Amino acid sequence: MCGIVGYIGAQQAAPILLDGLSKLEYRGYDSAGICVYSAKGFQIEKTKGRLAALRTATADGASMTGTIGIGHTRWATHGAPSHENSHPHLSANGKICLVHNGIIENYLILKEFLLAQGKTFCSETDTEVAANLLEYYYELEGDLLRAVRRTTEKLCGSYALGILCADRPDSMIAVKKDSPLIFGFGEGENFIASDVPAILRYTRKVVYLNDGDMVEFTANGATFYNALGEQVSKTPEHITWEMSAAEKGGFPHFMLKEIHEQPKALRDTISPRVKNGRVVLDDIKLTPEYLRGIRRIYIVACGSAYYVGCLGKYILEKTCRIPVEPILASEFRYSEPVLGDDSLVIIISQSGETADTLAALREANTLGARTLAIVNVVGSAISKAAHDVIYTWAGPEIAVATTKAYSTQLSVLYLLALYIGDALGTLSAEEYNAMLHALVALPEQLTQVLSEENLAHIEALAQEYKSHHDVFFIGRNLDSATCLEGSLKLKEIAYVHSEAYAAGELKHGPISLIEDDTLVVAVATVPALFEKTMSNVKEVKARGANVLGLTTVDFADEIAKTVDRPLLVPRTHPLLQPSLNVVPLQLLSYYVALARGCDVDKPRNLAKSVTVE
Ligand code: G6P
Repeated sequence: MCGIVGYIGAQQAAPILLDGLSKLEYRGYDSAGICVYSAKGFQIEKTKGRLAALRTATADGASMTGTIGIGHTRWATHGAPSHENSHPHLSANGKICLVHNGIIENYLILKEFLLAQGKTFCSETDTEVAANLLEYYYELEGDLLRAVRRTTEKLCGSYALGILCADRPDSMIAVKKDSPLIFGFGEGENFIASDVPAILRYTRKVVYLNDGDMVEFTANGATFYNALGEQVSKTPEHITWEMSAAEKGGFPHFMLKEIHEQPKALRDTISPRVKNGRVVLDDIKLTPEYLRGIRRIYIVACGSAYYVGCLGKYILEKTCRIPVEPILASEFRYSEPVLGDDSLVIIISQSGETADTLAALREANTLGARTLAIVNVVGSAISKAAHDVIYTWAGPEIAVATTKAYSTQLSVLYLLALYIGDALGTLSAEEYNAMLHALVALPEQLTQVLSEENLAHIEALAQEYKSHHDVFFIGRNLDSATCLEGSLKLKEIAYVHSEAYAAGELKHGPISLIEDDTLVVAVATVPALFEKTMSNVKEVKARGANVLGLTTVDFADEIAKTVDRPLLVPRTHPLLQPSLNVVPLQLLSYYVALARGCDVDKPRNLAKSVTVE
């Protein structure tokens, strides 16, 4: 959600900025712009729509000369996607030029103040307010660094800012709060960006800026300041993953590539934490004494990560016998949750930057709960703010719709369930071993789900279903939570209206919507509930539904008697079954989206990382 790139060095800036922005497209955007500074002053190009339009407008950057610049992809919040509202924004006197990611919540009050000071505006954005406020303080202070500090003191909300000033043509200032920003050290060149892929081609030496951090840099050096304005030194982290991990590697879409990466992602996440037949979580410091004192577990997250939490309720309650409440971060933060030191709050987030999730985590910390984050992006705000962190080693996830991050988050919940269940003695040795054995075997079983034959079958099903406008996903117990994710995927990337219902709830409303040829996806993999779900299937079939039934190979014959089309997955331990079930549903959405001509990796109106409330 909004992407920032900044460059100072010896090379032409514009092509580097365009290249960097292209690596941030996954964040979601609806307009883009770059600004390059040279002896001619600021040159700004902005376009509504895709980056390709900006490339054309600048002849791939060749029309803009200068070795210092900032670039931005904008996901509209304040004001429609338009040329005027696109970044970079100039201040009224044209001296300050900046890009911004985040939301300035008090921008209206600040705008009134600035209008009264005679400042003029040409966009509807909150960002232009930041540019003019900085100009105001710069005029007052005569010192740019102090002016930036005074400006940020006045801003409520979130921001990552990349700032150029015509009076200091060789340097750039960047500052951040609650929006991601990294600094990249090059040789005779330096960078800022919202995320590593934007600059990985140029450097692997990266600093993740903390909230309140500010950096002033030139081509040859950088000075860092902390939130108190004190000069601090920063030790860069070395990025070890390859760019190919963030590129398509022969697949037509990132989403398909990431679906196929799931066996490896699971293996990378699980194996380092299993030693000599035990789950070892060196990363966290939850002592058996602390675990024995937990009275309630909350799982807080947004989107698909929340649906992992819905599965977590079944998994952790069964293994640890502690009540578990999954709750949406956007609800949790305003619900005055009843928390204390006997509550464990598990925060799940791929990006580690989701605004609501981060705010919920801070609320939980304030209320005295212990917080444990399951995060994919190392160094992200959530990973830093939580008491404990378990990383999902999924690698960079680029497609907006999550697949491998979801699967690895789920695998971490299994590790946690084993770890806590073992510490509390709520899991027998036999149950522990059976579950751990199944967990270690999951990557191999996932490979079977991704067989050519299975893919072809699901693609054919998608062709058959591509014109359906309403789809119902039904299932019981763990399967009902898997349905939530299956249904979300179809909405997100194929733009098909779909609903997920606990199968037992059908008769309490949704069955009235079933008519001739309504597509119903029935997930029936919980052995003890198979017959019950089949009864629900018969009810919808009696009303004309067209039913796709997902079950395990050992129910192949039974399901064939009831549904129109069966879809089979291997059998695993009952609690782990959702890990295998979700993959065909991801593929079904992917192929339906393809058949409907949708932009799979960048679905309309959605962003990979929702860094605004
Ligand atoms: C967006 C993404 C989803 C993701 C959700 C939460 O909606 O499109 O795939 O599940 O945000 O993001 P997080 O980074 O916190 O997991």
